[in-house]
Amino acid sequence: MKFSNFSSVLSLLSLIPASQAWGTLGHHTVAYVATNFVHPKTRVLFQSILNDITPSYLANIATWADTMRYVQGWGWSAPLHFIDAEDDPPHSCAVKYSRDCGEHGCIVGAIQNFTQQLLNPSLGAVQRSQAAKFIVHFLGDIHQPLHDEGMAKGGNGIHVIFDGDEFNKYYKPLNLHSVWDTTIPEKIVGGNTLLDAENWAANLTTAIETGIYKTQVGAWTNSMNLADPASTALSWASETNVFVCTTVMPNGREAIEGTELNGTYYEASAPVIELQIARAGYRLARWMDLIAGNFKTEL
Ligand SMILES: *[C@@H]1O[C@H](CO)[C@@H](O)[C@H](O)[C@H]1NC(C)=O
Ligand SMILES: *[C@@H]1O[C@H](CO)[C@@H](O)[C@H](O)[C@H]1NC(C)=O
Ligand SMILES: *[C@@H]1O[C@H](CO)[C@@H](O)[C@H](O)[C@H]1NC(C)=O
Ligand SMILES: [Zn+2]
Repeated sequence: MKFSNFSSVLSLLSLIPASQAWGTLGHHTVAYVATNFVHPKTRVLFQSILNDITPSYLANIATWADTMRYVQGWGWSAPLHFIDAEDDPPHSCAVKYSRDCGEHGCIVGAIQNFTQQLLNPSLGAVQRSQAAKFIVHFLGDIHQPLHDEGMAKGGNGIHVIFDGDEFNKYYKPLNLHSVWDTTIPEKIVGGNTLLDAENWAANLTTAIETGIYKTQVGAWTNSMNLADPASTALSWASETNVFVCTTVMPNGREAIEGTELNGTYYEASAPVIELQIARAGYRLARWMDLIAGNFKTEL
């Protein structure tokens, strides 16, 4: 399909928001990995907070934050899904809170905010449930490299091609951000259903327990400090942002603009995406355990 033939359709469809988060497959998988690792007491607490006693209590709310960002009255939450690092990939990658967390907030501040809300014993049930939903979502997003990068709005402005396709499923020009959010994860798994996510999470859980991640998983929680959620989240963002220089655009923005990514680019990116989904899910479980261990309800 040629862009020119399509421009009127594109302008009609421009009302559909650009994809700006791990797609549903990524978020569901992070949630299921976390489900597999949380302490039983943590599960009981969060099932109660979320008012959902099913085994999918985390997956069921993992994309709630993405549906809310476009709802009237919730616009304040849109900037909280990312931090726009003003670094210079591929030459230098870095996240700096004071430079990069905009005046409307960012994902690092949001993880701090909603963690502290969860620990506040006087918080009402509705707000507590919302805080839990934001935590589950944002611990996922912060592990997607392009959520920790400002260049071209986290890659949303970089047009790319995947397997000859220049458009996404909403007939918008395919961009680098959505390829990382959705296209590559769905190709790794071969689908995007809840069951696909559960199966992918089962594989990643095995990799953590007995496979390729076994020797590194201990280090994944090194910088985790419930007393300082912002520093903890900044360490995750910094670690994730490094992949922008090494894997997302190793030869710079121009080298990737308009190019086909199904091939060597996919082969290099898929292992990073699997690692980041595994890290996000495991860290989410441990973060929830810390919250549960320090949880106080008002008597
Ligand atoms: C903290 O959460 C409240 C909603 O509960 C929101 O209004 C505020 O903007 C958030 N602040 C930050 C820094 O994320
Ligand atoms: C990507 O490339 C491979 C190998 O050439 C091909 O088998 C596959 O159909 C292509 N498309 C997708 C979406 O995987
Ligand atoms: C899970 O691992 C099995 C065995 O390696 C593989 O056949 C399957 O495709 C994987 N599934 C997902 C969703 O990753
Ligand atoms: Zn998001």
